[in-house]
Amino acid sequence: MGLSILAYLLLAVTGVWMFGTRVKKTPQPTWLRSLHYLFGASLVGLVLLLLAIGIVGTLGHFGSLGHSSHFAAGLAVVGLVLLSGASATLIGVMPWARPLHVGTNITLFIGLVWVSLTGWGVVQKYLP
Ligand code: HEM
Ligand code: HEM
Repeated sequence: MGLSILAYLLLAVTGVWMFGTRVKKTPQPTWLRSLHYLFGASLVGLVLLLLAIGIVGTLGHFGSLGHSSHFAAGLAVVGLVLLSGASATLIGVMPWARPLHVGTNITLFIGLVWVSLTGWGVVQKYLP
C-alpha cells in the first residue's frame, strides 16, 4: 500500500510536470511521458495485487466477502485506477479524455484515503 501511495505521488509529480511543459510550450523531455506511463503501470499492478490479496485472504478466512465498507472502497479504487489508465490511453485520440484522466485522478486520491482508513479499520477489528 505504501508503494501504491508512492506510485500515486510520483504520477502526480510527473503529470503536473507534463502539464507545465504543455502550457508553457517548453520542450518536453521524451523520458517524462515514459516515466509517467511506467509509474502508471506500477500503480495498476499494485492495486490489482492488493485487490487479489484482499479477496483471496478474506475468502480463505471467512468464506464470504463484503464485511465492511472496505470492500466497497477497494472496488472503487480499482475501478478508478482502471478508468484512469483507460482514459490515459485515449488522451492522444480524443480530447475529452484529458479532463477525464485528471478528474479521475483527483477522485482517486479521495479513494486511496478511504481505502487506507477502512483498511486500517478492519485491521483493528481482526487483530486479537
Ligand atoms: C493509472 C495510471 C496512469 C497512466 C497510464 C497515465 C498516463 C498518462 C498519459 C498517457 C498522459 C498523457 C500525456 C500526453 O501525451 O500529454 C497523462 C497525462 C497526465 N497525467 Fe497521467 N497516468 C496515470 C495516472 C495518473 C495519476 C495518478 C495522476 C495524478 C495524480 C496523473 C496525472 C496526470 C496529469 C496531470 C497529466 C497531464 C495532463 C495535461 O497535460 O493536461 N496521471 N497520463
Ligand atoms: C488499493 C488498496 C486496497 C484494495 C483494492 C483492497 C481490497 C480489499 C478487498 C476487496 C477485500 C475483501 C473485503 C471484504 O470482502 O469485506 C480486502 C480485505 C482486507 N483488506 Fe484490503 N484493500 C486495499 C488496501 C488495504 C489496506 C491499506 C489495508 C490495511 C491498512 C487493508 C487491509 C485489509 C484487511 C485486514 C482485509 C480483511 C478484511 C476482512 O476480513 O473483512 N487493505 N481488501
